[in-house]
Amino acid sequence: MKNIAVFASGNGSNFEAIAKACQDGIIKANLVLLFSDKKNAYVLERAKKYNITSKVITLKSCKNKEEYENKILAVLKPLNIDYIFLAGYMKICDSTLLNAYPNRIINIHPALLPAFKGAHAILDAYNYGVKVFGITIHYVSPELDGGKIIAQDIISYQEGDSIEVVEEKIHALEHKLYVKTICKLLEEK
Ligand code: GRF
Repeated sequence: MKNIAVFASGNGSNFEAIAKACQDGIIKANLVLLFSDKKNAYVLERAKKYNITSKVITLKSCKNKEEYENKILAVLKPLNIDYIFLAGYMKICDSTLLNAYPNRIINIHPALLPAFKGAHAILDAYNYGVKVFGITIHYVSPELDGGKIIAQDIISYQEGDSIEVVEEKIHALEHKLYVKTICKLLEEK
């Protein structure tokens, strides 16, 4: 079985969907690490609940981004990680990480890329008045939210839906598509 790691900075609902799917044998992989760049991220609680080892390294504790990513690599290397899945990881991956895991770092974004890149994609799309919302799973490249697309899915806007309702629907869709896509990726390679 392949070894996978999840990187997350915040809430961690996608992490939990992945952890549950691994526990239930739906994703056939060992989820060996939850990495976070935030000491108080709620995702760390979720990792405890699933008995997944977690590691926190903050950028602040490092001289620069290169040292930060080298410290992450020092954690990953002995664990023989095959894939890294970003799930609300709020840092751009630089060349240190990307070169160590070419085509092995995957991200989920709550919009139909290449539209609505960035950290406030759902709100931006909502304010724009889009009638079809979507999510994208893509390879991570040096360009923010710019790598090759692996999978997408959509939901239609229902008249009167608040931003909270749209967010809820998008997250539910993310959890399903991320698990499905991870299963597919692991089968292919
Ligand atoms: C998700 O919407 C994901 O697409 C984006 O960040 C959010 C993370 O949510 N990259 P959660 O922490 O998994 O609940």
